[in-house]
Amino acid sequence: MVRISFLAALISGLYVYANPVEKRASLQQITNSGISNPTNVGFYMYVPDKIATSPGIVVAIHYCTGSAQAYYSGSPYSTLAEQYGFVVIYPSSPHSGTCWDVSSKATLTHNGGGDSNAIANMVTWTVNKYSADTSKVFVTGSSSGAMMTNVLAATYPELFKAGIPYSGVPAGCFVSSSGGVDAWNSTCAQGDSIASPEAWANVVEAMDPGYNGTRPKMQIYHGSADTTLYPNNYNETIKEWAGVFGYDYTKPTLSEANTPLTNYSRDTFGPLLQGIYATGVGHTVPIQGNEDMKFFGFAS
Ligand SMILES: *[C@@H]1O[C@H](CO)[C@@H](O)[C@H](O)[C@H]1NC(C)=O
Ligand SMILES: *[C@@H]1O[C@H](CO)[C@@H](O)[C@H](O)[C@H]1NC(C)=O
Ligand SMILES: *[C@@H]1O[C@H](CO)[C@@H](O)[C@H](O)[C@H]1NC(C)=O
Ligand SMILES: *[C@@H]1O[C@H](CO)[C@@H](O)[C@H](O)[C@H]1NC(C)=O
Repeated sequence: MVRISFLAALISGLYVYANPVEKRASLQQITNSGISNPTNVGFYMYVPDKIATSPGIVVAIHYCTGSAQAYYSGSPYSTLAEQYGFVVIYPSSPHSGTCWDVSSKATLTHNGGGDSNAIANMVTWTVNKYSADTSKVFVTGSSSGAMMTNVLAATYPELFKAGIPYSGVPAGCFVSSSGGVDAWNSTCAQGDSIASPEAWANVVEAMDPGYNGTRPKMQIYHGSADTTLYPNNYNETIKEWAGVFGYDYTKPTLSEANTPLTNYSRDTFGPLLQGIYATGVGHTVPIQGNEDMKFFGFAS
């Protein structure tokens, strides 16, 4: 008896300590990845029971005051992961107040050593670990996580195939002129950072200078009654990506009323850019998980 339980404990101990990442279908913290993590971003992951052979990856980024655990519980991605077989990475902000750093030069630069760099390293590690399908690597997030979604799309265009920010600001809008990390920027928050599509495109291009490959397609959500990140940030984010892709932000190629929900309108500006403006909705635009799956290409 004693010997058997000792052996069982030894075996389960070996399992737990040698291979923590293999635990499936629950939120796991990855502590032994060995990645370069310059700002000490928390690395959490959900590996579904029914993982696909060459799985996709969805990076799901929490809002300000949130955490990996909160976004795991409060968003549909782990349930969708079981349905579609992808792995979810939930990064957790290391900053007090736990907003993401989307303001420092480091985070706004490809391989600059900021939070964006840490998250990109998690993606690369996960791609290798699970032989993931690099054509199915996506990023999404809410509020501060939406800001980071735009920042990751701008700083690591080679990693991501699509991004869906829920209620964010343009990449490079929350910039801190004094180099502050994780700094608030009222000008941007209040929708007063206005630039031309070309100027915004230059901001994006400066984050990964010389990059000339494909860029992720983007789908931008924002509520018209947002008093945290004012609705003009919707227009400016559309202008930014329209500038990058060379689309005319004033002329959608398709406008769909009451899509995907009543009082939401979806504008398509070209194959790589859609905006969804939610009339009457405040800062918390509810995540449209099934719509996300369509935009990412997991569902038809
Ligand atoms: C806030 O961001 C804008 C760009 O959106 C920038 O021009 C301004 O300097 C920033 N404010 C501060 C205080 O850093
Ligand atoms: C893109 O950049 C790479 C690496 O800098 C360069 O070799 C290639 O010629 C560039 N391609 C185009 C179309 O500019
Ligand atoms: C955004 O732009 C559209 C068309 O260019 C304009 O009608 C609308 O008032 C703008 N929205 C905000 C919040 O500024
Ligand atoms: C849509 O907007 C109208 C007008 O503001 C409002 O009366 C209605 O309740 C809204 N419908 C939904 C489903 O939010």
